[in-house]
Formats: sequence, structure tokens, C-alpha cells
Amino acid sequence: MKDYGHRPVLVEETLAYLQASRAGVYIDCTIGLGGHALEILRRNPGARIIGLDLDELSLQAAAERLARYKDRVKLFQVDFREMLDFQDLVPWGEVRGVLVDLGISSFQLDNPERGFSFNLEGPLDMRIDTRQKTTAEKILMTYPEGRLAEVFKKYGELHHTRQLARKIATQRKLGLLKTTTDLKKLVEEVYRWVPQKNRLHPAARVFQALRIEVNQELKGLDTFLERLAGQCPSGTRLVVISFHSLEDRLVKKAFQRLASGQEGQPVVRILTRKPVRPTPEEIEVNSRSHSAKLRAAERV
Ligand SMILES: C[S@@+](CC[C@H](N)C(=O)[O-])C[C@H]1O[C@@H](n2cnc3c(N)ncnc32)[C@H](O)[C@@H]1O
Repeated sequence: MKDYGHRPVLVEETLAYLQASRAGVYIDCTIGLGGHALEILRRNPGARIIGLDLDELSLQAAAERLARYKDRVKLFQVDFREMLDFQDLVPWGEVRGVLVDLGISSFQLDNPERGFSFNLEGPLDMRIDTRQKTTAEKILMTYPEGRLAEVFKKYGELHHTRQLARKIATQRKLGLLKTTTDLKKLVEEVYRWVPQKNRLHPAARVFQALRIEVNQELKGLDTFLERLAGQCPSGTRLVVISFHSLEDRLVKKAFQRLASGQEGQPVVRILTRKPVRPTPEEIEVNSRSHSAKLRAAERV
């Protein structure tokens, strides 16, 4: 089996909150390389997985990694936010848990062709679903300065976003903004970057902001959770792992609305008053986990 170098985050916590030892169906909305799914299948012979992902290459990798359990796995290239529009996809009465592990995996980050990493030279692509037309390059080339500044401020939580947007507008006119390295260098100039221990490279936030905009990652996340909870049978566990404060806020608010319910009837019970964070030991072995926050709820 290939080693894809991707470690699933908060695995023990995820399985515990999903109560993944119960027989039945678990929907992995973002199966990625199947790290969480593999653990569920390996530990629980009564578990079946419905796995979704927008990325064809990740789905292929997941199929390979989960091949040993293929009779208990169904994979689909579907945007999880549209899952409820495909009612036949899921035997809802048998669902016991739903996992949403947001963002991208190291498998995608470490492929230079995908353009997600500022450390690897590649095209300014950043599409999770490569069937989609909008790439990071298209955004960088076509958005007016003001809109670019807004994206970097909102999704990257950066300062000096007007200067950054102005520099992008200048460089694109000159044809000097073609690759991830061009963008990284531009960012380093704007922020006068000097490497320092424990300081995040500003390009990390710029790339994150662009990725969120390219894939419209926050759009419809909260309404999806609310619709999903309404659809799941009583006792279903919902677990969401996010890596960005805006994502986490959407999840928190959606769970709160569901917990206060309609006409005083709660739809879910919140299981995590505060988000669950990885232990220092996990962060030590998997630096990608450092910003992870897990929230869980149970359908009442
Ligand atoms: C953090 S990774 C999941 C890793 C996975 N839990 C594992 O253990 O290997 C997130 C995955 O979600 C996928 N993804 C992101 N947005 C999506 C969406 N709206 N619908 C379906 N999949 C999505 C990405 O392609 C990526 O493979």
C-alpha cells in the first residue's frame, strides 16, 4: 500500500464522539484518504461507510486504502453540502454517525500541481474539484483590488490587505504573477518577511484565504448542518472538525440553533461545550493538527 503521508487528526476523539463501535452506517462527508474511515472499519466489523469527496484523486486513493473493506464502503464524488439533494445515496434509517473533517489533506497540499502550497512551485490552481472552472489564478487576474483585499482580510485575517491587493494588481499587469512562487515572493515583499522562529509565514494566510474563496468553502456549511440534523435518526452523532475560526464559528452557531430548536423542541444535544483540541503530543507528531477544533452533537 502507498504511504500518502497524511495523518488523520483527532482520531480517538472522533471515534469516541461518533460512538463508532455501534453497528450501522457512518457517513464520512470528506473522506480524503480514508484515515478516519479506515479506523472505523478496522475496529468495528458492523460498520459501513458512505464516503464523499469532491476530489477525484483523493477518492481513488481512499478506494485503494480501504480496498480490504470494500464490501462495506461506498464512495461518491459529491459535494457534501449537496448530499441531501441525493436522497437515494444514504439509507437514513441506518445512519449512526456523520463526520465532516473540513479543508484539504496533506495529499492535496503536497502535490505541487494542485497549487495549494506556497512551499512548492506550481500553478495557481487550488481547486478541490478539478471539474470546476474558477482557479486561484482566475481570481487573482480578474478580481478588482477592493474585492481581493476583502478576501484576504476575511478569510486570511491579514493586515495590510490593500497594499497586498495593489501589489497583485501591479504584478498581474506586468505578467509577473503566474506561479505559487511568484505569489509567495510578492507576499514576502509586501509584508517585509524575515524568517523568525514560531512566526507563521504570511503566505500561509494568503494561500488559505485564496483556497477558501476558490472553493467557496464556507458557503452553505451551516444550512447543511441544520438540514442534515433534521434528516438523521435519533441517536445519530454529528462530528465536525474545522481548521479556521470562521468555520468553527459557523459550526458552533448551527449547533446552538439546533440545540435551542424550533418551538422549544431541541433537534440536537451539544456534546462539546468547548471545542476539543489536539493534545500537545498529537501536535508534536502532526503539525497540521495544531489549529483543529472538534465539535460534536447528538440528534435527540
Ligand atoms: C481534511 S481532508 C479529510 C481527511 C480524512 N478525514 C482522512 O482521514 O483522510 C478534507 C477532504 O475534504 C474534501 N472536501 C473539501 N470540501 C469538500 C466538499 N464540499 N464536499 C466533499 N468533499 C470536500 C477534500 O477534497 C479533502 O479530501
